[in-house]
Amino acid sequence: MDFLPAILILSSLLCSVSSQAPVVSVEPRSATVRQGESVSFRCQVGRGAQPIQIEWKRANNQALQDNVKIGPGGTVLTVVNSRPGNQGSYRCVASNSAGRSSATAVLNVKYAPKVRLTPAGPMRVRIGEPVSIECRAAGRPRPKMTWKRQGSTLQYVTQEINDVNTIQWAVIHPEDSGVYICQGENTEGVTEVKIDLIVEGGLGAPVATVSSEEVTAVEGHTVKMSCAATGSPTPVITWSKLRAPLPWKHTVAGGVLTLTSVGRQDSGQYICNATNIHGYSEAYTQMEVESPPYATCLPEQVKLQPRDSLQVQCLAHGSHPIRFEWSRVGRPSLPAGAETSADGRLFIAHIKQGDAGTYKCVATNHVGSSEAQVKVVVKA
Ligand SMILES: *[C@@H]1O[C@H](CO)[C@@H](O)[C@H](O)[C@H]1NC(C)=O
Repeated sequence: MDFLPAILILSSLLCSVSSQAPVVSVEPRSATVRQGESVSFRCQVGRGAQPIQIEWKRANNQALQDNVKIGPGGTVLTVVNSRPGNQGSYRCVASNSAGRSSATAVLNVKYAPKVRLTPAGPMRVRIGEPVSIECRAAGRPRPKMTWKRQGSTLQYVTQEINDVNTIQWAVIHPEDSGVYICQGENTEGVTEVKIDLIVEGGLGAPVATVSSEEVTAVEGHTVKMSCAATGSPTPVITWSKLRAPLPWKHTVAGGVLTLTSVGRQDSGQYICNATNIHGYSEAYTQMEVESPPYATCLPEQVKLQPRDSLQVQCLAHGSHPIRFEWSRVGRPSLPAGAETSADGRLFIAHIKQGDAGTYKCVATNHVGSSEAQVKVVVKA
């Protein structure tokens, strides 16, 4: 009576064995290594119908890194010379005709702290300013961060928010100058980064001032720029030009820079530097050299027949803006029908015999003016 059900159970059992999806596990399930060490995970397939394919993947389906090798038969995954970036999950996926299954291994890579400061040193600040320096530390296990001053064992009380530990002063004092150290520490090591903090403008430090921040000079003239400095001991004053040597026709005496016969190329920024043992201070004078216009006519002489058109261009170089004005020599006004333009052109569409003569162009800017002439001959 019990014979029939027994056969049914047996046959369903045989059937399920032959079409069974693989059963996988990984060994070890998790591992913790130090940076530089190697580690292997083995993927074990317990049951399942052959053939079975084995594949290793990163948990996020990213490609395996170049230091991750897959061993013989695809069952062993080895992380060679591990790096912090190898941390994460690795999944062994086994598949056959009946389906697929997977098991995951977790790798932890420990490493000594890496410490970074913002800003990087050296840091120059002026007395009385607020100052803050951020320290970031990465590492596994998560590093403990502390700030101290070189030559002192005392730790500063600082705040750590989102792995950023900030040392700050609402108002900086001269005696705060010095070397500060941010330290990151975990079981793998201790990393220190130093920053030199220089507080300027303390007692005796130089403060330079120039007599004027902007100077306009006319080409060919002599220019004097003066600079004074307070500080103790008395600062030494030097002058230089931004991104260029000083013009060769220069002298410096008692903080006064004298440039003789300046040219347009001497325009630029001049820097006064006052230096003593406490530091230095810079002050700037911007100089522009302006030149009067120099005008010419193109052409300087024209021969035309009646009814021809006249076109003359007045050209000028010098500091801009330049205004042009045309007139006729010995006559109160230009002939009727003459046209002029803002860029210095004179135009007469149909010239007449009576229009012959000399025309004058005057070019003017705020430094001076210059004139040029054109002779117009009209012959039938
Ligand atoms: C001013 O002098 C200081 C100290 O000698 C120097 O470090 C700095 O570069 C100088 N600045 C200029 C613009 O020459």
